[in-house]
Amino acid sequence: MYDYERLRSYAEKISSKIGFAPKVGIVLGSGLGDMADRMQSVYSCSFTDISGFPMSTVEGHAGQFIFGYISDVPVMCMQGRIHYYEGYSMEEVVLPIRFMAMLGVESVILTNAAGGVNKDFKTGDIVLLTDHIATFVPNPLINPNVDELGVRFPDMTEVYDGKMREIMKNVAQKENITLKEGVYLQFTGPSFETPAEVRMAGMLGADVVGMSTACEAIAARHAGMKVCGLSFVSNPAAGLGEAELSHEDVQKASKLSAQRMADLIKSFCAQIK
Ligand code: HPA
Repeated sequence: MYDYERLRSYAEKISSKIGFAPKVGIVLGSGLGDMADRMQSVYSCSFTDISGFPMSTVEGHAGQFIFGYISDVPVMCMQGRIHYYEGYSMEEVVLPIRFMAMLGVESVILTNAAGGVNKDFKTGDIVLLTDHIATFVPNPLINPNVDELGVRFPDMTEVYDGKMREIMKNVAQKENITLKEGVYLQFTGPSFETPAEVRMAGMLGADVVGMSTACEAIAARHAGMKVCGLSFVSNPAAGLGEAELSHEDVQKASKLSAQRMADLIKSFCAQIK
């Protein structure tokens, strides 16, 4: 179990350095790190500057927090995330999300690269998450409850906030960006799925599959933050496309959506100002 008090004191230290409470937290998935260039940065630190913090070991994940403003809204961006498949416990994986809550973040935007299961989805599509299936990974709240953050048995009826979704849909329309909607299913990775697993995911009601996000959304909801999830389809999931899957191709494909994803987030911030 991590030391809640230690994290608390680090949050206080950071707060005094940045001089504002971030209102929105943004987690940038594979290949989307450049989005941080769009913000007016005030302060940044590496995950490793926080003693005991897990470090992102994945290619394309910088592993730093950037504090600043997007459309005049105080935000913190997590450039790169921690994945369960890196060998960290689920509790460690969601530590940065809990850190966001401690700093005062009210709403989080979780972005990720995902495989398209829904046959109507194409590579490059952006999908607004309506719900998730997290049953194939351990729940990040397993362990004694952190009462300071939330209740033992948090409700998950509406993980992805209805109001945030409405705002996202409105700004997408204004920006002329097509937004698909769908259910995210999290597998552990790091191997990509087999075609049989992808068929199963589809039968269970999933539209996209990935290796992150659902666990973060659970931890965020537990801590009382509102959640918005955006997947970009980096490839048709296994068995639905022609090509073999690779992390390099996922990163390359992410460049297709990075610009639109950044426009969406920027307009979203302007809207909630
Ligand atoms: N499966 C799981 N995770 C992913 C995929 C995929 O096909 N593409 C990008 N992340």
